[in-house]
Amino acid sequence: VSRSLLVTGTDTGIGKTVVAAGLAAALRRAGLDLGVMKPVASGARRGVSDDAVYLRKTAGVDDPLSLVNPLLFKAPLAPSVAAAVENRRVDLRPVRAAWRELLRRREGLVVEGVGGLLVPIRPRWTVAHFAKAFRLPLVIVTRPKLGTLNHTALTALAARAFGLKLFGLIVNFAEPGRGDPRTWSALERETRLPILGVVPHRPKPAAFDPIAKALLRLGF
Ligand SMILES: Nc1ncnc2c1ncn2[C@@H]1O[C@H](COP(=O)(O)OP(=O)(O)O)[C@@H](O)[C@H]1O
Ligand SMILES: [Mg+2]
Repeated sequence: VSRSLLVTGTDTGIGKTVVAAGLAAALRRAGLDLGVMKPVASGARRGVSDDAVYLRKTAGVDDPLSLVNPLLFKAPLAPSVAAAVENRRVDLRPVRAAWRELLRRREGLVVEGVGGLLVPIRPRWTVAHFAKAFRLPLVIVTRPKLGTLNHTALTALAARAFGLKLFGLIVNFAEPGRGDPRTWSALERETRLPILGVVPHRPKPAAFDPIAKALLRLGF
């Protein structure tokens, strides 16, 4: 039994890394000894995953980078496609081994997905399959802008089709701007999910504390 969750998003570049890292740091401040993980990454730079480096640093965990990110591909493409480019098969054994080792060290993990929920890690085996296999409940990072109702509802629908547990939504201002709060209530109504928090553009670390509290209130 672990206290872990998967941070997915309605798209790539939506703020999964920023939110997962900030949330992990906030949950740690609230007293949980959580680790972080980016199990599968693509778009390696200098042989490492930028996401894994950021997660580790921002959350303030000292677990080895090789455990935080056990599987890395070079091309900035969906993992199954990046693997094909490299003539590699996606072997999840290192991911399982790293998962076990991290959970030996930590009481749970904040796990960042890759891309959105239906991005293939292996052919016809997606981030949603990953969440199911590792029994990870989800939070969905979503944009405040036009288009978000459709993308968020689609993501929630897919998660439910997989029987995944959903904690709720996090609206993230990856770009500066003012959202319309009426969009927030529409998001909650259309997805039947709570908004756990709204993350401003260039958030201070404390911006994630109320989101951590909301998760804890929901039984995380
Ligand atoms: N709340 C925010 N404020 C400012 N910049 C942000 C915020 N969220 C994300 N970004 C920026 O947007 C880009 C994409 O965010 P990132 O967390 O890497 O997305 P993802 O992990 O979903 O691909 C990054 O350059 C990141 O620094
Ligand atoms: Mg990321």
